[in-house]
Amino acid sequence: MSTDDSDVRSTAHRSPDWWRDAVVYQVYPRSFMDSDGDGIGDLNGLLSRLDYLQSLSVDAIWITPCYPSPLLDGGYDVADYRNIDPRLGDLATIDAIIAQAHERGIKVLMDLVPNHSSWDHAWFKAALKTAPGSPEWDRYMVRYGKGDNGELPPNNWRSVFHGCGWSHVKDDEGNPTGYWYLHIFDSSQPDLNWQNPEVRQEFLDILRFWFDRGLDGFRIDVAHGMIKQDGLPDMDYSNVDTELLGDIPESPHWDQPGVHEIYREWRKVANEYEPVRVFAGEAWVRTPEALARYLRPDELHTSFNFEYLSTPWDPARLRKVIDTSLKYDREVGAATTWVLSNHDVHRHVSRFAPVDTNGNRDLVEGLSRAKAASLFMLALPGTAYLYQGEELGLPEVFDLPDDVRQDPVFFRTSGEVLGRDGCRVPLPWEADAAAFGFSPTGESWLPQPLNWVNLAADAQEGDPLSTLTMYQQALDVRRHHPALGEGPDEWLDAPDKVLALRRFTEDGSSLVAVINMGDSVVTLPYGDQVILASDPLAVTILDGQVNLPASTCVWIDA
Ligand code: NOJ
Repeated sequence: MSTDDSDVRSTAHRSPDWWRDAVVYQVYPRSFMDSDGDGIGDLNGLLSRLDYLQSLSVDAIWITPCYPSPLLDGGYDVADYRNIDPRLGDLATIDAIIAQAHERGIKVLMDLVPNHSSWDHAWFKAALKTAPGSPEWDRYMVRYGKGDNGELPPNNWRSVFHGCGWSHVKDDEGNPTGYWYLHIFDSSQPDLNWQNPEVRQEFLDILRFWFDRGLDGFRIDVAHGMIKQDGLPDMDYSNVDTELLGDIPESPHWDQPGVHEIYREWRKVANEYEPVRVFAGEAWVRTPEALARYLRPDELHTSFNFEYLSTPWDPARLRKVIDTSLKYDREVGAATTWVLSNHDVHRHVSRFAPVDTNGNRDLVEGLSRAKAASLFMLALPGTAYLYQGEELGLPEVFDLPDDVRQDPVFFRTSGEVLGRDGCRVPLPWEADAAAFGFSPTGESWLPQPLNWVNLAADAQEGDPLSTLTMYQQALDVRRHHPALGEGPDEWLDAPDKVLALRRFTEDGSSLVAVINMGDSVVTLPYGDQVILASDPLAVTILDGQVNLPASTCVWIDA
């Protein structure tokens, strides 16, 4: 299969700068499609659904970690950076994905996890066989503890997943020594020592290993975390409210200046390739200015916009985050990115759903808002990230039984925090099949809610009112409309709680995206042709006036 002219994105998308306005679809492989019937999604499953992704018109896929791993943090605990977990496939399967995606005009990004390895990694196993102070231990962050015999942790750093950020190095008999290793995440994820030149060289080699196979780039996990402040001083936790997100003021282990040197080295490697390879950073930093520092021309290409993802259903805050993101990214010549869901947060259908006094979520309204928010996002200048299943309108699953949960956050808080399994439930493909067609044997590593029957991809395909159809149409319009993707924008005057953004080109092409975040219908004087609406039956036009009900978005030819 190959892409002919009619199927290739317009001019900007043919350029080597494809990543400046791509639609990138995040695949969480264990939950995407299972081909061998063990109830765990795999790479052959992904291969079998490339046609689906092509018909959705995505420009790229980002595959979350599929390396060998004990799976104590969903694969973000990597045991071997140059291989594939046998439960998911092998190197030949990932090569086939890269080749067959490329034939369809789809780029492929993988996930690189440089802040920490798994405790099953050969380096950590080798370190355990030596005494601290050895070259093997120097690849990790090991320190002698406080107290008379090192019985207290070296400092007060906490794990993002709750509890202490340090674990004892144990002797051969399993008794604690006075030494501790740092793990900013789970104890199975020891932090690597990025002051050690061997660690730096290893990751340069890993980049080349994958780029040589034709991989188009990497999403970089915890991109703001690799360098720790000299002396590892205690952290001031007094103002911390979102520890999981790393949103900690003046942190000695987040967003340290030295991290930028690493990206300058990596960028040189990426630039050696033709076409250049691309980096998307997962940097949870505190301000758009701080984020833009990662996007200077010799560092990362793009970075996730978590401030946008964290913005609630509130027009003033939405407009502000759009303005500040564009302003700071444009100052360094970077493209802005937009994202509403991923494998770490509650799905946006549930996030945007109003909650009544009994704690019940109105998911009908949640879906209306989510569709409107997604359609609006897809009209913004820059790159959009989609998370698998959002095109089906999947909500978060809050009521998974405890015994199927796998998130380390659940275990480290003794069940107090449910964690992230609820956004990782396997996709429903077929309404009438066992496990909704996720697996040929009807197995599923997390149970799917029965009422997902109406959300299955085959139930939505071809239905002009479905969420899937809205995404297919939006991505198709975005691919061909000259005013979408990167380019100028301007806010238009709009009624209260309504945002209207005009996208245009210098030669007169233009599209207005309007979202009504208020409670009542509004009438708009813009243009007379609706290109797309998040609720096509509810949006009406009379004499050039568009009636836009609450919680809807419309793209207007204007
Ligand atoms: C961020 C990833 O998105 C998350 O899933 C993971 O648990 C942490 N980094 C640790 O690698």
